[in-house]
Amino acid sequence: MKKLSLLCFLLLTTLGHSQKFEGLAETPPMGWNSWNTFGTDINETLVKNIADKFIDLGLKDAGYDYIVLDDGWMAKERDANGNLIADPIKFPGGMKALADYIHAKGLKFGLYNCAGSKTCAGYPGSRGYEYQDARSYASWEVDYLKYDWCNTEKLNAEGAYITMRDALKKAGRPMVFSICEWGDNEPWKWAKDVGHLWRVSGDIINCWDCEVGHGSWSSFGVWNIINMRKNIRSAAGPDHWNDLDMMEVGNGMTDAEDRSHFAMWSMLVSPLIMGNDLRTASPETIKTLTNQEVISVNQDKLGIQGFRFSNENNVEIWIKPLENDAWAMTFVNMNDKLVNLDFDWMKHDIGDDVNGKRMDLHNSIYNIRDLSSHTNLEDTSRNLKANLGIHEVLMVKLQKK
Ligand code: GLA
Repeated sequence: MKKLSLLCFLLLTTLGHSQKFEGLAETPPMGWNSWNTFGTDINETLVKNIADKFIDLGLKDAGYDYIVLDDGWMAKERDANGNLIADPIKFPGGMKALADYIHAKGLKFGLYNCAGSKTCAGYPGSRGYEYQDARSYASWEVDYLKYDWCNTEKLNAEGAYITMRDALKKAGRPMVFSICEWGDNEPWKWAKDVGHLWRVSGDIINCWDCEVGHGSWSSFGVWNIINMRKNIRSAAGPDHWNDLDMMEVGNGMTDAEDRSHFAMWSMLVSPLIMGNDLRTASPETIKTLTNQEVISVNQDKLGIQGFRFSNENNVEIWIKPLENDAWAMTFVNMNDKLVNLDFDWMKHDIGDDVNGKRMDLHNSIYNIRDLSSHTNLEDTSRNLKANLGIHEVLMVKLQKK
């Protein structure tokens, strides 16, 4: 008996040590990442300006808090002791001073590295240095680590990500752990206790519906990513999210496409990580990114990932259960022409079998709120009618009367 309790104790202690930091991402993380717009061309002034913009443009008030430096922040070589160092030209003040600047604004600071010998852009990777690097991040007061998958040769993905998770835990500073192995090893099957979010695809590119080949890898447009992983929604939930990649809102698609992109990332409970240049963003882009009613759908406490309900006249219809028996719905016009939406509630039976929820459209009436125009529409006793421009979205919230 004594032996058994000792065994249980040892097992629990070991398990206890190897869990991720829990509770850091009860709702999908929100923030900004440098990669989509700047690649490795980043520096201290830029990052400080972005932090300033979080405050000036109301992004912090809207819920965005992480500022994440992607690839390219490091010097090309480690120092004589094997420590990672910030590129002295790009970041002369070093990472701790930058973290202090960001923290002083009530924001959080994230960095990037890679499980391989080198990062994707050829900077020093963490392979073999996991515990040492985790200690550096902790000493700089980093709050978030994005961990990539280039140059990993025959590494086992689950093992490599567990090693880094344990290294972070050992370093003792709570950090969101963002797994970025592009969905190659199906992290939605094993990463719930390893990271707080995991990428589900190769890199996003700023187009509605395209795939761009780069030799051995491809980038994917907004709808390519959405359609690629329709079947893994039950893997997402509080503290463990399917990451559809940093957003391309403000990076060249039309305003309507940006609104649809933002609405879909919200429906699919993807982390909302902006990827545009906030210094030059248009008022329309900021309006899309700070739409509080859309963000509330993403940040809903239930954390249920939405699902595709149907496609009618080439209008994609997606549904997401929300707290308090409410529902969010998006209608996205995939046509290259204007469409008159005419949705008859009585002809549809809407439910989420995975989560055992059903709308009660035949016995109850629901109020309908338009989350873009912030107006109340007519209720479900009448057809939902709207004109939808090219690639435009109508996003509504339904609540029983
Ligand atoms: C990979 C990732 C991107 C970005 C780059 C940096 O492609 O998927 O998100 O981090 O590496 O080199």
